[in-house]
Amino acid sequence: GRPVQVVSTGMAVPSKTLDNHQLSKVVDTTDQWIVERTGIKIRHIASEGENASDLASCACRRALEKAGVSADTVDMIVVATNSPDTLFPAVSCRVQGIIGAVNSGAMDVQSGCNGSISAMSVGASGIASGLWNRVLVVGVEVLSRLIDWSDRSTCILFGDGAGAVLLEAGSKKGMLSCDLRADGTLCDYITLPAGLSALPASDETVRGKKHFVSMKGNEVFKFTQRVLPGYLSEVCAKAGLAPEDIDWWVFHQANMRIVEGVLRRLKVDRRKSIDNLDRYGNTSAASVFIALDEGYKDGRIVSGKGQKVLVTSFGAGMTYGAFVFES
Ligand code: ACO
Repeated sequence: GRPVQVVSTGMAVPSKTLDNHQLSKVVDTTDQWIVERTGIKIRHIASEGENASDLASCACRRALEKAGVSADTVDMIVVATNSPDTLFPAVSCRVQGIIGAVNSGAMDVQSGCNGSISAMSVGASGIASGLWNRVLVVGVEVLSRLIDWSDRSTCILFGDGAGAVLLEAGSKKGMLSCDLRADGTLCDYITLPAGLSALPASDETVRGKKHFVSMKGNEVFKFTQRVLPGYLSEVCAKAGLAPEDIDWWVFHQANMRIVEGVLRRLKVDRRKSIDNLDRYGNTSAASVFIALDEGYKDGRIVSGKGQKVLVTSFGAGMTYGAFVFES
């Protein structure tokens, strides 16, 4: 297919923050427990009326501004989210309207935290095949609204935010590989049980707190350590690389112990990973694009330098995936 270039990135987070000390007044927890078990110190939380489409639009505008291109030249907007404003219309449609991408199509993908990689696969393959020339790939979450704020095992983990990546048909190599996997036998690891066709909203589902994220945290943790090291070695090999050839690793920011464990098993230097979990918490489908944006901003990733960057995520499904590109 045609070369696919990562042109620019953008991010947006709500201005309101919630640190571990404030959280310890909401549920029975401590800053020390959260930092030691997860690495998270503070997260951004959307204010009333601030929705996924607002954060996503802001991240898209920043990516477009950085590239110096106008919204009406975008061919497709692909949004990954697990906390859309509404199930329909899709967040991508709202974004298309807000930013004035009048010539663009719009679609959402929902695939847990790994939606970021799914959205990237849609955008990149659309360009590679010649369907589109310019695509906005976005990850956004306002999961704070879908969290049980009395459940200390989940409410400490998540933060709100959005990240966007502008892709274009390029003249030289960019995207080297993009891969998606799933293990649908593990559907019960991370779920939001009620409010749709299997369990429509009722007084009972509300009383039972079935409209909130429910997670087998420990099983998710073990899954990552069992599956990701071998998988990521395979992804590198597919791109004609060894793990040590990767200049920068961008992991889904869910738990620092997950990142550290996988890097240790891959025998990769910890310092090659671009992390921000301490400042944002787990922003689910947005996390890798926010980290990517920060990597560009602080000069670790440099456009045109040809650095090899591996971006990977995992989430509800269980799904997992990765893409490798040259900066
Ligand atoms: N503060 C204090 N104690 C707590 C807290 C808290 N916030 N949460 C749980 N505990 C307690 C538990 O009650 C338990 O106590 P017990 O031993 O008396 O029963 C103890 O701490 C240990 O609990 P575990 O759940 O075994 O703790 P663990 O070390 O596994 O850490 C965590 C939990 C942080 C959730 C971890 O398992 C994890 O990060 N898992 C991965 C989650 C993840 O990555 N999800 C990403 C996908 S999300 C998505 O796709 C939408």
